[in-house]
Amino acid sequence: MKRRVISVLICVLAGGLVLPVLGKAEVQSLRGATPIEGGAVEPEVQTWQPDREPIDRDFVQQPPLIPHQIDGYQVNLKFNKCLSCHSWANYKQAKATKISQTHFSDRDGDVHANVAARRYFCTQCHVPQVDAKPLVENTFKPVEAITAH
Ligand code: HEC
Ligand code: HEC
Repeated sequence: MKRRVISVLICVLAGGLVLPVLGKAEVQSLRGATPIEGGAVEPEVQTWQPDREPIDRDFVQQPPLIPHQIDGYQVNLKFNKCLSCHSWANYKQAKATKISQTHFSDRDGDVHANVAARRYFCTQCHVPQVDAKPLVENTFKPVEAITAH
């Protein structure tokens, strides 16, 4: 009995030593073939696209892309730079699009007088653009809109 336990233990231990070696060949790290001592290649710094007209949306519920630079625009607990132009109080003067109704509803569907907490951090959903090559091919297709006959 004791022997069997020992041989099972040996098998498990040996497996533990061999498997990682076998597995290694298949796992590709994000660093690719760059050796650890080699240091990572710094990504190319991209410049933000200059301010322009609103960018076409690809599907109805898409958060519109930000068609202007947002360098230095702070959004924190006490201050939200985006709302200084996009809130219902300020949009006319700033000639900006006002945040839509959906931004006032919380997750329970209750509508508030101010922007709901889940819509407060604008850049969670809205992003400015750079002229970068896509990292991967995008095959996304929106569900076809129902058209009137
Ligand atoms: C100084 C005023 C100002 C500030 C601050 C500002 N915006 Fe804008 N934003 C504008 C203007 C003006 C437009 C363009 C409106 C137009 O041409 O119809 C715009 C357009 C947009 C649009 C596109 C709307 C659409 O219908 O396609 C988004 C999204 C947006 N801004 C998000 C943001 C976010 C997020 C922030 C904060 C990080 C921000 N903006 C800060 C003025 C501002
Ligand atoms: C959780 C994701 C999310 C967050 C956070 C968010 N938005 Fe949006 N936003 C959307 C989506 C989705 C749309 C398009 C559909 C809609 O109007 O709800 C939109 C639409 C807009 C529009 C266009 C409105 C229109 O009438 O066409 C503006 C401007 C905008 N958002 C600004 C902001 C600003 C400013 C903030 C931060 C205070 C913000 N959003 C936060 C998802 C988000």
